[in-house]
Amino acid sequence: MSKDGTISDITIRELTPADEKAVAALLLSVYPSDMEARLVHKLRHCGALVLEQVAVAPDGAFLGHIAFSRVTNTTIGANQAVQVACLAPVSIRAGEQRKGIGSRLIESSMKRLGELQEDLVLVLGPPSYFPRFGFDADLAKKVHGPYAGAAFMAAPLTEAGSNNLPIEVTFATPFEEFD
Ligand SMILES: CC(C)(COP(=O)(O)OP(=O)(O)OC[C@H]1O[C@@H](n2cnc3c(N)ncnc32)[C@H](O)[C@@H]1OP(=O)(O)O)[C@@H](O)C(=O)NCCC(=O)NCCS
Repeated sequence: MSKDGTISDITIRELTPADEKAVAALLLSVYPSDMEARLVHKLRHCGALVLEQVAVAPDGAFLGHIAFSRVTNTTIGANQAVQVACLAPVSIRAGEQRKGIGSRLIESSMKRLGELQEDLVLVLGPPSYFPRFGFDADLAKKVHGPYAGAAFMAAPLTEAGSNNLPIEVTFATPFEEFD
C-alpha cells in the first residue's frame, strides 16, 4: 500500500479455471444477493464471455473481478460489421473500493480487448465513473437495444467502433434473467 492509500503491488491477470470459486466468493461478498455470481457463472458456462480479469493481492487474496460478454449485433445501413463486448459486472471487494483497483482493472481489460480486436465496449453503470475510461452516453445513442439513457455508455476501441454505427444489439441470454 502506498502513502496515498492506493495499492501498487496488485497483479491484474486473466482468469484461470482454478480462480472460479474465489471469484464466486468475491461476488457473493460484494453484492447483497447471489444474482451477480449467478450471472457470471451462466455467462461463463454458456460461452458468452469474451474476457475475464482478476485483481489479486500479493498474499493471493482476490480483490477484484471484471467480465466482458459478447454482444451480437447487426449494423444498420451499409456499414461493416463491428465486434462488440459488454462490461458487466466489475466488482471490487468491500473495504478495498476507492483505492484505484477498479480503474486499473478496467484500464487493463480495455487494453486487452483492443488486442483481441474488439471495436466497441458497452456498459450500464454510473455516469460519474465510466466516462474517465472513454465511455460516452452520446455514442451509445447509436446503439439500439434494450438499454438507453445516461447510464448506458459506449467506448470505441477502434475507428470502426465509432464510425460503423448505428447498430442493433442483443445481449447474452443470461442478462434477460438479470433485468
Ligand atoms: C464501482 C467500482 C467497480 C469502482 O471501483 P473502485 O476500485 O472502488 O474505484 P476506483 O478507486 O478505481 O475509482 C474511484 C472513483 O470511483 C468513484 N466510484 C466508486 N464507486 C462508485 C459508484 N458506485 N458510483 C459512482 N462512482 C463511484 C469514486 O467516487 C471515485 O471517484 P473520484 O476518482 O472522482 O474521486 C467498485 O466501487 C465496486 O465494485 N462497487 C460495488 C459494485 C458495483 O457497483 N459495480 C459496478 C457495477 S457496473
